[in-house]
Amino acid sequence: MERKKIILDVDTGTDDAVAIAVAALSEKLEVLGITVTHGNQPLCYTLENTLRMVEFLKLNIPVYAGCNEPMVQYLTAGRLLNVRRQTIEKVINGETVSIHQKYLDLPKASIQAEAKHACSFLVETLKHTTEKITIVAVGPLTNIAMALRMDPSICKGIEEIVIMGGAIAHGNRTPVAEANFYDDPEAAQIVLKSGCKIRLFTLDATESVLCGHEEAEEFRKTSYVGQFVGDLTEEFVRKCTLLNICDCGKVSIHDAVTVCAVIDPSIVTDLRHQFCDVDFSGGFSDGQLVVDTRMFAKPADPVYVAYKVDRDRCLELMLHSLKHAETEAD
Ligand code: RIB
Ligand code: CA
Repeated sequence: MERKKIILDVDTGTDDAVAIAVAALSEKLEVLGITVTHGNQPLCYTLENTLRMVEFLKLNIPVYAGCNEPMVQYLTAGRLLNVRRQTIEKVINGETVSIHQKYLDLPKASIQAEAKHACSFLVETLKHTTEKITIVAVGPLTNIAMALRMDPSICKGIEEIVIMGGAIAHGNRTPVAEANFYDDPEAAQIVLKSGCKIRLFTLDATESVLCGHEEAEEFRKTSYVGQFVGDLTEEFVRKCTLLNICDCGKVSIHDAVTVCAVIDPSIVTDLRHQFCDVDFSGGFSDGQLVVDTRMFAKPADPVYVAYKVDRDRCLELMLHSLKHAETEAD
């Protein structure tokens, strides 16, 4: 069976690490490369974490370093001060608790990133591919937007862009903005308006699949990778609880849910073709996904917003990938 060709863009991070495992271990996907962006941490950390994960998974997938800061956001003096941002790191009883720690708890990477910049890899690969490629973007969209600005014709080489980003009911980094969109609102708007087919996995969709101790135990039973993912999940819950980000003992592994919807799009139970914009005006709603649901607002772009995912089928896909690791490690 033909594997779907993908390029994964990450800001590794906790859930990105799980997304890399679920994608790379799926027999339905062929990961052509992993591009890394700033986001959960500065690029130097997100790149090291991505390399550590690729080495841990015993993969032969090239990793490319991308952009270390948003396209233009920092040019507006005082812009980041306008909103009440979620605390994602603080010292609690002498321990620095961060939902995305600087380094994943894995051995220091001995492999290197490719010399080529992520944006050059994206442009060259997408411009010359003979088969359309799916871009799976689970961090701020800086690399993807920059590549589209460098050469808009790369859209012809893109099957679809599947994004973890945006929020409808509530934000996470701010009351209305989801982190990936908040970390580079202009990039998000550029990608949404690129003319490429887009499926957007908002917090509403990814939070329909929550994981806690029970799911971590299931992960651990699968393979040596599943043991790591189970521990990572429980540590994620512990830290989100300490930071008052969750109070139910369960969290969403946002990026892994998004990858599962690439493996099997039928797990998405609520997907709507909608008119979308991203606020980049620098005010209280900076980075907010703005969906126009008014009667006359006929969507002009092929942007489809996911609101809900089938939890059980999504977890089955995660477990299936993680089980596959055992044979990979033999
Ligand atoms: O809002 C969740 C998203 O922001 C995830 O991709 C997480 O890794 C962070 O990047
Ligand atoms: Ca991410």
